[in-house]
Amino acid sequence: MKTPVQIAVTGAAGQISYALLFRLIAGDLAGADQPVVLRLLEVPEAMTAVQGVVMELTDCASPLLAGVIVSSDPYEVFENADLAFLIGAKPRGPGMERRDLLQVNAEIFSRQGQALNEAAKRSVKVLVIGNPANTNALIALRNAPDLPPKNFSAMTRLDHNRAVSLLANRCNCSVEEIRKVIIWGNHSSTQYPDLHHALVRGRSALEQVEQSWFRDDFIPTVQKRGAVVIEVRGKSSAASAAHAAIGQMRNWIKGTPEDDWVSMAILSDGSYGIAEGLVYSFPVAVRDGEYQIVQGLAIDDFSRERMHLSEAELQAEQETVKHLL
Ligand code: NAD
Ligand code: LMR
Repeated sequence: MKTPVQIAVTGAAGQISYALLFRLIAGDLAGADQPVVLRLLEVPEAMTAVQGVVMELTDCASPLLAGVIVSSDPYEVFENADLAFLIGAKPRGPGMERRDLLQVNAEIFSRQGQALNEAAKRSVKVLVIGNPANTNALIALRNAPDLPPKNFSAMTRLDHNRAVSLLANRCNCSVEEIRKVIIWGNHSSTQYPDLHHALVRGRSALEQVEQSWFRDDFIPTVQKRGAVVIEVRGKSSAASAAHAAIGQMRNWIKGTPEDDWVSMAILSDGSYGIAEGLVYSFPVAVRDGEYQIVQGLAIDDFSRERMHLSEAELQAEQETVKHLL
């Protein structure tokens, strides 16, 4: 039997985790022959609820479930973790922006960064999902000085998937015929979903849709999709978020296709003129478990302006939490 992968999941009694955990023990992330140990973190008040989730996980009789650890101590949960999904955080309600959650959620990520620093494998891959995800990831990585910053990313895959679906729908094609969509910036309403490099059936996407649709319909629809889901469903996205989390982590582990890239929010190295030291979403290619920002893409004034708008928002968020960095 293969050595089990140690997967830490925070917020294990919450709605995203409920959509994620059962897929982890079905092999959707690590593969159908790869056992996993689930290491579940919850706050003490949710311990009973998380025990109920563990009962259901057990009742699946999955041959891949090699063990479950449940605790409200992040040091215990992150011990020797190979992968960590940081989901546990308060979601926003109707009428809120994700940055409104910063005050409530930020400290969670400083404590968890410190615990990862001490307890996790040095090669741990940490995916931050709890909002505001980019700045929470920044807080976590700055509180984990002994781990390489490249071990951290925040989730913009849900935005990327939303953009791909919307474009496929507009072009009346399969999502498999779409390549090279980009989400730049913050997982917020300033994100910039960019189609300038996107291909539909191998040809430029922007030659196949009207400019007005791209600017006035596509961009705001992707930017506001999370809020609209909250409005319509009454709760923030959960199953699509769990699906995106599996997609982002799987590409990070197993790589991206030769002819495509994915969007991941990672620590900026100054590429494309984006200030160093922000967690910003870029197009990345992944080889051998390491992501690289795709370089050399032409950026016009329209795109540059939107990329910098999202950068400015992240700088303002960073200022708000500078005591935690
Ligand atoms: P939820 O309220 O259903 O679950 C959150 C869980 O986290 C709760 O069970 C809570 O007890 C737990 N929790 C709170 N503080 C914790 C801590 N310190 N340690 C461990 N667990 C803790 O929320 P949800 O719908 O699962 O969403 C979770 C987060 O993910 C929210 O912040 C939401 O906004 C965010 N989100 C992000 C994306 C994205 O694309 N990046 C998508 C969807 C949701
Ligand atoms: C989403 O994009 O659906 C999540 O970030 C939830 C939210 O607050 O929008």
